[in-house]
Amino acid sequence: LYVNASEASARKIPDTLFGIFFEEINHAGAGGLWAELVSNRGFEAGGPNTPSNIDPWSILGDESSLIVSTDRSSCFDRNKIALKMEVLCDSEGVKKCPVGGVGIYNPGFWGMNIEQGKTYKVVLFVRSLGSINVSVSLTGSNGLQTLATANIVAADVSNWTKMEFLLEASATDQKSRLQLTTTRKGVIWFDQVSVMPLDTYKGHGFRNDLFSMVQDMGPAFIRFPGGCFVEGEWLRNAFRWKETIGPWEKRPGHFGDVWGYWTDDGMGHFEFLQLAEDLGALPVWVFNNGISHNDEVDTSSILPFVQEILDGLEFAKGDAKSKWGSVRAAMGHPEPFDLRYVALGNEDCGKKNYRGNYLKFYSAINDSYPDIKMISNCDGSSTPLDHPAHLYDYHVYENANVVYSQSHKFDNSPRTGPKVFVSEYAVTGKDAGTGSLLAALAEAGFLIGVERNSDIVEMASYAPLFVNTNDRRWNPDAIVFDSSQLYGTPSYWMQHFFRESNGATLLNSTLQSNLSDSLVASAITWKSSVDNKHYLRVKVLNFGSNAVALKISIIGVEQNSIESLGSTETVLTSSNVMDENSFGEPKKVVPLKTLLENAGEDMDVVLSPYSLTSFDLLI
Ligand code: AHR
Repeated sequence: LYVNASEASARKIPDTLFGIFFEEINHAGAGGLWAELVSNRGFEAGGPNTPSNIDPWSILGDESSLIVSTDRSSCFDRNKIALKMEVLCDSEGVKKCPVGGVGIYNPGFWGMNIEQGKTYKVVLFVRSLGSINVSVSLTGSNGLQTLATANIVAADVSNWTKMEFLLEASATDQKSRLQLTTTRKGVIWFDQVSVMPLDTYKGHGFRNDLFSMVQDMGPAFIRFPGGCFVEGEWLRNAFRWKETIGPWEKRPGHFGDVWGYWTDDGMGHFEFLQLAEDLGALPVWVFNNGISHNDEVDTSSILPFVQEILDGLEFAKGDAKSKWGSVRAAMGHPEPFDLRYVALGNEDCGKKNYRGNYLKFYSAINDSYPDIKMISNCDGSSTPLDHPAHLYDYHVYENANVVYSQSHKFDNSPRTGPKVFVSEYAVTGKDAGTGSLLAALAEAGFLIGVERNSDIVEMASYAPLFVNTNDRRWNPDAIVFDSSQLYGTPSYWMQHFFRESNGATLLNSTLQSNLSDSLVASAITWKSSVDNKHYLRVKVLNFGSNAVALKISIIGVEQNSIESLGSTETVLTSSNVMDENSFGEPKKVVPLKTLLENAGEDMDVVLSPYSLTSFDLLI
């Protein structure tokens, strides 16, 4: 392998090349990155009509002591359902309440991870015709062990009243639940019941362990909030940003009908923009373009939808005195967010109204925000687009051989016109298992091709990012978690090999081998922000089942300028190409770094079968 380190043949890689795609799928946000522990906190998930299903809330007590129902008496206009509890027993008298009282409990998203010594903020809205005495407890999964408790005692809550307090856990249970119980006869209504750990990323509501997994990827951008989630099976269930902002208790929430679950939209338009900022990543907002999987807005009626998006841009980018910028400022972010990219729909290119709607959105956005780059859903990799765009979307979900062979996908694509955004890529099907080494390696081959073609590919992101193992709607995914555990699949770790590529310099490299069908390589130089030193990285993927001896020659560097001390070799491989990580063995297939003792202008190296290796030379 010849690597030419001279500047004459080098090219800058876009600062934006490798990022992430966050979609509300697999409970990635609700019951995932968004740290809210109560599932269905406003009792709306069962629908707006009564009687409504309160699942996963359950009742503590029998029919002779308690009647639980729903009505539309909430103080919140956009989410009218409240839970009504008629307590028929009391602490004394003929009909005594059972020990511990009667009431309701919420198991969160397959159990709440309550940790000893940590503090949880509980907020709930309550109303009653008489005085109340309610225990609010975090308990073990069977309700027997109390981890933390507080009593709400109030003489007059005849109007809806917000109660807010902190609970400190005295023990740990990963499958805890929240209980609201009483031993006092009467009628009580509850609404918008929330339990949040105090300890979230910067207090912004993101679960720390999941946030830092994502942060470690060093994403240059974050595409959000979908995917199909943005479209909906039906437009009435699509993501509408205005319904997801403002005080959380006032948000109506919605049923994401593509991935089949309710979200309270605690993680809404503001929180996605905040997440991008916290990650140091550029936000890429995918908006609904009046098209779902099953219905479409006719182009002649699209203007209100266009206005909705212009308002969303003003919310993100507008001055704090503007109409929507002031709403953002009231939410705690007076400075505009750095929104530079929007995608006009998701996977809708072939749909009847796509082009008509697209052009309306395009020209309105271009008029008001000429700095915004717009992403078309139509693939321009082989045929030029018939409409204006700054970038076009490309998605690939295929078996390992197809994804690997796509390392050449953009070699012959048009060099003029819109740039490429590979906004979703992954190996799927049986090659992927639930996250195999094979999948990660094929994807690495594809990404090396992306890097080599980064004169026209501006952005690339794997999909999906997250899966809560209790609701695996899409497989495989990069980060696997439940209420308390998490691990990265080999595809997650593979992306770490590309972290330093954003804004780096791509070197010219040529592979001369009779195994070139199963070898792919690229080389970059960059200045490390950790130690301020310059490095040259050669990445080589061996997609074959045999070890390969390879000579790497670096030309165009000053003699003896490569330092052995400080140079390293990092390998992602395993004894079986179908190996995966798991909660039990989270680090079975992860990159292993060793010192590179023979670092120099000429190196004889051996590539393990089915491996991705990076040689990081200190120069
Ligand atoms: O990443 C999962 C889904 O795949 C996305 O929602 C959609 O854009 C694609 O079909």
